[in-house]
Amino acid sequence: MRLTILNDNIPSKGLLNDWGWSVLVEERHRFLFDADTRGDVLAHNSKALGISLKNLDFAVLSHWHGDHYGGFPLIGRLNPGLRLYAPSGGRIEGLSVFEVREAGEISDGIWTSGALDGFEQAVGIEAPSGLVIIVGCSHPGVDRLTEAILRVSSYKKAHLVIGGFHYPSRKTLDRLAEMAEFIAPAHCSGDEAKAYMKRRYPEKFVEVRTGTVLEVEGVPAG
Ligand SMILES: [Fe+2]
Repeated sequence: MRLTILNDNIPSKGLLNDWGWSVLVEERHRFLFDADTRGDVLAHNSKALGISLKNLDFAVLSHWHGDHYGGFPLIGRLNPGLRLYAPSGGRIEGLSVFEVREAGEISDGIWTSGALDGFEQAVGIEAPSGLVIIVGCSHPGVDRLTEAILRVSSYKKAHLVIGGFHYPSRKTLDRLAEMAEFIAPAHCSGDEAKAYMKRRYPEKFVEVRTGTVLEVEGVPAG
């Protein structure tokens, strides 16, 4: 299973960058989780990384904030009629929005947490090494989103939790550390959360930025 970070807040040489978050997931299915703020950033970075944004099986939106859905009109032009799993509250030209409310399995081996507080979802994906959880901004709390995915998927622990953790408290990060083997704070997690994870849980900490490719089999390479 491969995760490609098409954009994170942290830049990389040769790639465009802005405030936003977008991950291409490739395993049994090929789908985009969130679409950054700008379609041109996704177009440039995918080309530079040698990745096509066509031929997606579906797409997922964590929540209706511009730094997560801004690039979806581009995805709609490249994949007309593609299904977008999203909490209620918006539309994207060219995409067919399927509103997510409750936790459940959206595709074979892929679970949604449901729209927590009616607002934001995370997904869990079954990989050879275990369950990989991707979050957007974690407004409802990265610990609550992770718990919801573990509950619906019947996994006891996540192999990896990756995404924006929204400036979490240390208590939240400690709770998360009990639920995950590896943790990759990105996007809106904040420098303080990253520094704490790196210091307190060096064996779990995975560093990611724009352009990072994680091959998730055993231990993800940072
Ligand atoms: Fe965000």
